Amino acid sequence: MDRVIRRTGWDKDSTTDNGNRFLTANGYMGIRGTLPEYGRNELAAINLAGLYHKVGNGWRESLNAPNPLYVLHRVDGVACTPGVMPYASHEQALDITRGLHTRSTVFDLCVLRDERFCSMDNPHLLCLRSELTGIRGAADTDARTDSDIWEIYGPHYNHVESGADKGVIWVLAQTDTGQQVAVARRGTLAEDAESRVYTCCAAIYTSLDCQNPLAAAIRALDDADYDILRRAHTAAWAALWQCAEVSIDGDPFAEEALNYSLYHLLSIAPRHAASLSVPARGLSGQTYKGAVFWDTEMFMLDFYLAVQPQAARACVRYRIDTLQGALDKAAEYGYRGAFYAWESQEGGFDACSDYNVTDVFTGRPVRTYFRDRQYHITAAVVYGLMKYTRWTKDMSLLLDGGYEVLAQSARFYLSLLWQKPGSRTYQILGAVGPDEYHEKVDNNAYTNEMARWTLLTAAEVLAEMKGSHPAAYAALEQKIGFERELPLYKRASARLKEKKPGKDGLIEQFDGYFALEDVSVDTVRGRLMDPREYWGGANGVAAHTRVIKQADVIAMLYMLRGRYAGKTTRANYDYYEPRTEHGSSLSACMYALAACMMERPDAAYPLFMKSAAADLAGGGKQWAGLVYIGGTHPAAAGGAYMTFLYGFLGLEIRQGLPVLHPRLPEGWKSASCKIQLGGFEYTLKAKADGSRTAIKAPL
Ligand code: BGC
Repeated sequence: MDRVIRRTGWDKDSTTDNGNRFLTANGYMGIRGTLPEYGRNELAAINLAGLYHKVGNGWRESLNAPNPLYVLHRVDGVACTPGVMPYASHEQALDITRGLHTRSTVFDLCVLRDERFCSMDNPHLLCLRSELTGIRGAADTDARTDSDIWEIYGPHYNHVESGADKGVIWVLAQTDTGQQVAVARRGTLAEDAESRVYTCCAAIYTSLDCQNPLAAAIRALDDADYDILRRAHTAAWAALWQCAEVSIDGDPFAEEALNYSLYHLLSIAPRHAASLSVPARGLSGQTYKGAVFWDTEMFMLDFYLAVQPQAARACVRYRIDTLQGALDKAAEYGYRGAFYAWESQEGGFDACSDYNVTDVFTGRPVRTYFRDRQYHITAAVVYGLMKYTRWTKDMSLLLDGGYEVLAQSARFYLSLLWQKPGSRTYQILGAVGPDEYHEKVDNNAYTNEMARWTLLTAAEVLAEMKGSHPAAYAALEQKIGFERELPLYKRASARLKEKKPGKDGLIEQFDGYFALEDVSVDTVRGRLMDPREYWGGANGVAAHTRVIKQADVIAMLYMLRGRYAGKTTRANYDYYEPRTEHGSSLSACMYALAACMMERPDAAYPLFMKSAAADLAGGGKQWAGLVYIGGTHPAAAGGAYMTFLYGFLGLEIRQGLPVLHPRLPEGWKSASCKIQLGGFEYTLKAKADGSRTAIKAPL
């Protein structure tokens, strides 16, 4: 594979989109795809994974590091940057095969080329080479560590010091709660009359890594050499692509978009850590507080399981390790068991605020119920844990805390149930389902069914545990005393209210949904008085209508596939799709998967492309009320992969073996990819004529 994403020409308004589009990352950090001479005004950022801080009453968010790769050249005092110095051509590019960000600008007074990467070989390292040639005038170069960084709810660092040590320039930034971010760089400038080449190798360590991050960062640059690091970096990318690349014969656009999506997922995979998950906006900045949502388990995990199992493990491990946060959150609301964080930060702390949207007209915070009522998050955690266990057959996570997660999750749903006096039926009241525009609804089909699935799964898996791992079972029983609850799991799952398909096959999204105003998405959009207005909540334009934000019933039909008849999927798809705004990037792929289940690959195709190209195309929603929500969309990328693998190739695992049921979109001659399963690597290939192969090779 040799694939480069390019954008030629320059316009100021594309800066934010390009920052996302050209992101380079390695799981530890993400460098936004901004030009090396850019700073906070252009949203330049080096976003760090897993490190969070809060200032005053602002939102607690992930930290951005000072930027050691800042460089600005000037000729005759004029800054070499588009928009300041006239230029004849400008190109920004991302080599997704090698993880290299490049720019090339032919200015009136010089030619500027630079290349930047954050090492896939050593997660602490990042490098830049910037070459100014054909200089016509007196040149100077300002290369430094830019500590004036972009932050949404900063400033996070209350103490920043810098110094030099044997050719290494360092900055140590500290928060008032003791976090340290150390950034060291070694830069050299080679110059003659017509050219200057600035080369910089830099290292970042934080207090999450070790006791003395500054010493570690300085030491990391001991033998740093740009070319050697570049070779190790591109070799690491080559090894990743060896398994991850997908091929689509007959559709170069889809092939490019899907591989580009996989580039993002590979870039942000927590490969370096044993217990870390992926934020909803990847490592593209502090949007969504750098927090982890259900996006990881429901949309990204499938890709990681298939090609990066150790990253999948780190994500699942993260949930096991954050169980205490979930127990604390449940207790806070008066529930029992594990109520996982809607916006999870370290330790399972829920960063989601009670006022998570700001009203565009009044500037006032709007009460939202994402944190307290998206009960389905706990089911997503269990779904992810079981997906991992069933795919890998690795029992170690279950044994090392996973069984406890199961029991505590079932316990949570037990404590959530409500029983009307005199009725046998249990209900879940006041929920927020995936469709966040309708808040505090009773018996949301998705929530109830995922809760039922969790209760049944816990009952089944914990019963098996008693036979297969009696000592672990006894220890868990002693720790949390769950055994007497086991019969209740089953009883609760049998009595929990089911939103059954009606005569027309339709499943009502929640009690009373069918009584809401039935208008089109366009009509609702037409009622907006400001394009940034929030559609949900008490006064949102969609709240009193049947228009929904994202796949809800359809997400349920996909997640619990096999339980519903094909005609149910068809009826609900045809009903809900036109009523869906697709206001979340998580939506289109769920409909695409459902369309494939209905053997309608051509209906799936545009929805698949929308997901696969989310960050390539750019645009998308940037605002929820007055809150900036831009960034990359890894869940859409993961959803596109799921559509490819389970939808178009029709992969199912039967008795541990891959079985394909191809339904390729029109124009696709063949499609292929590799997956790791049961200790082997399989090359899967499906052709338009329906033929398919799964060739097995040792890992
Ligand atoms: C969606 C959620 C999603 C979150 C983060 C929201 O807009 O409604 O389902 O988890 O974004 O991607």
